[in-house]
Amino acid sequence: MAGRTRSTRGKGGSGEKGSSGRSYRGHAGLTQTPRNMRRRKASSNRWIERQLNDPYVQETHKRGLRSRAAIKLEQIEDRYPFLVPHMRVVDLGCAPGGWLQVVSERIKLNKGQGALVGIDLLETDPIGGAQILVGDITEPEMLDAVFNAIDGKADAVLSDMAAATTGHRATDHLRTMGLLELALDFAIGILNPGGTFLAKAFRGGAEKSLMDLLHKHFEKVRHIKPPASRAESVETYLLATGFKGLSETGDDA
Ligand SMILES: C[S@@+](CC[C@H](N)C(=O)[O-])C[C@H]1O[C@@H](n2cnc3c(N)ncnc32)[C@H](O)[C@@H]1O
Repeated sequence: MAGRTRSTRGKGGSGEKGSSGRSYRGHAGLTQTPRNMRRRKASSNRWIERQLNDPYVQETHKRGLRSRAAIKLEQIEDRYPFLVPHMRVVDLGCAPGGWLQVVSERIKLNKGQGALVGIDLLETDPIGGAQILVGDITEPEMLDAVFNAIDGKADAVLSDMAAATTGHRATDHLRTMGLLELALDFAIGILNPGGTFLAKAFRGGAEKSLMDLLHKHFEKVRHIKPPASRAESVETYLLATGFKGLSETGDDA
């Protein structure tokens, strides 16, 4: 296993603590204003005000989800179900673990079947039954580490990876799309035929070559903008289902 790769396997419950433990009570229509408004910059006030009044942030806290992103995955999966009990799933960029919570529940990991492996540059609190690797998916040895962790091939590869923002929009865009390409390579290398690939993308950012590759390897490719993904954000998701397998595309010849 890679020198920098560390692994933990979660024991016990699903670790469903809220990420901050704080909850903002009130119904969805209630407008709240941050305290100490004058001492903060206008941009941070806007961010805090948006958080306080965002019904999905409130839901995240109320349900003990680790991330607001968990609700996006639920919405995508409710619309296009692809998680079934006993599946083997890899979650790239899994911290703080919101998607792991959703997958774990939907594949019924607590019944002792199926497998769930998460990878992130950052530490992730354990999730019962899931194996969590700390490392960079761009490191070549990571594919082997995941193969070992999942003990074979996967039925679904999910990627909510986003590059750390630099503030320069075009650079951030390119870096996140670069991660999507890496995630796709990763998925092609590890998926079972019939498998699913779900990844975060940026609107307008999916290059023709990337879309061609998705269509070459999967039966169906959809762009999805779940309601919890903010309308003003360029974020969108690509859901590719029905992995054709390498022999069908001639790539393992
Ligand atoms: C939006 S967060 C994921 C949130 C997660 N889906 C959840 O629900 O909790 C994106 C994550 O991608 C991770 N990431 C970015 N680049 C990565 C890389 N090269 N290798 C592994 N993880 C990476 C970041 O550390 C970050 O935790």
